[in-house]
Amino acid sequence: MTAVEWIQRCADELTQAQVALGQGTLYAHDEASWLVLWALKLPLDTDTSELTAPLTALETQAVQHLLNQRLQTRTPLAYITREAWLQGVSFYVDERCLIPRSLIAEVIAEGSADPWLSPHSTRALDLCTGGGSLAVLLALAYPQLHIDALDISADALAVADINIERHGLQPRVTTRLSDGLEKASGVYDLLVCNPPYVNADSMAALPAEFLAEPRLALAGGTDGMDFIRRLLAEAPSFMTDDAVLILEIGHEIEHFTRAFPALEVMYLTTSAGDEQVMLITKQALLT
Ligand SMILES: C[S@@+](CC[C@H](N)C(=O)[O-])C[C@H]1O[C@@H](n2cnc3c(N)ncnc32)[C@H](O)[C@@H]1O
Repeated sequence: MTAVEWIQRCADELTQAQVALGQGTLYAHDEASWLVLWALKLPLDTDTSELTAPLTALETQAVQHLLNQRLQTRTPLAYITREAWLQGVSFYVDERCLIPRSLIAEVIAEGSADPWLSPHSTRALDLCTGGGSLAVLLALAYPQLHIDALDISADALAVADINIERHGLQPRVTTRLSDGLEKASGVYDLLVCNPPYVNADSMAALPAEFLAEPRLALAGGTDGMDFIRRLLAEAPSFMTDDAVLILEIGHEIEHFTRAFPALEVMYLTTSAGDEQVMLITKQALLT
């Protein structure tokens, strides 16, 4: 069988086994391509239509082994390969942190924060940085920014440090252990936060793949808003007058609007929908 045929076979088997997706890929065919290319040690942007030669016995064994591992253990592929990609940027990942997939990455790539930044903007905060992907993407997108990357998990910060070093950003991105904004210092021109926001009912229904991720990274209390309540109350003290907070809430829009009915927010469209990421000004938070 050729690599292309293996990709189709893996996609079929992943679909049949009803593996959970959404931790790097959204479709079985994409996950299968990633799996086969990884097993063959080929770059993930390889044009698969050119892979017309039959796999060797060793290559077949490698693909089969990786497929079995994915199917039998239900471990997310990123934890097996120890690599994840976001906006074309590669990140080291392991079970100590959430697999990078924040929609805020799209917002950074699209420059949605640009109108609120100026040449004098120098400081940004990535709160709940996890493995550091958003801090790294911010640093790559905005060379003038120094970024504090905060998280309550020392394990996650160890991964963030690996990623910051991988991208040579140590002088500009600094990790710090912090419960919420406790260890934030001074005021920032931009805050980004992909917090734990999954409500209790959704947590109880999580598939095995998502249970492999740190619970601390997902669980947001009964209505998913525990962390966000505290954040919105405390954030203004850490914002310059023109600063904005870019916040991800995933599918929790109902809980969010119920918790903050009067808050004026600007939703930012992403590939996953129109109400999963928002921008909030300091003025709106103070009002
Ligand atoms: C949804 S994950 C986001 C990780 C990363 N920003 C990303 O997008 O991949 C949420 C992160 O919040 C951290 N966290 C949970 N409670 C926290 C708290 N009280 N203070 C700071 N960080 C917290 C978790 O350790 C986890 O890394």
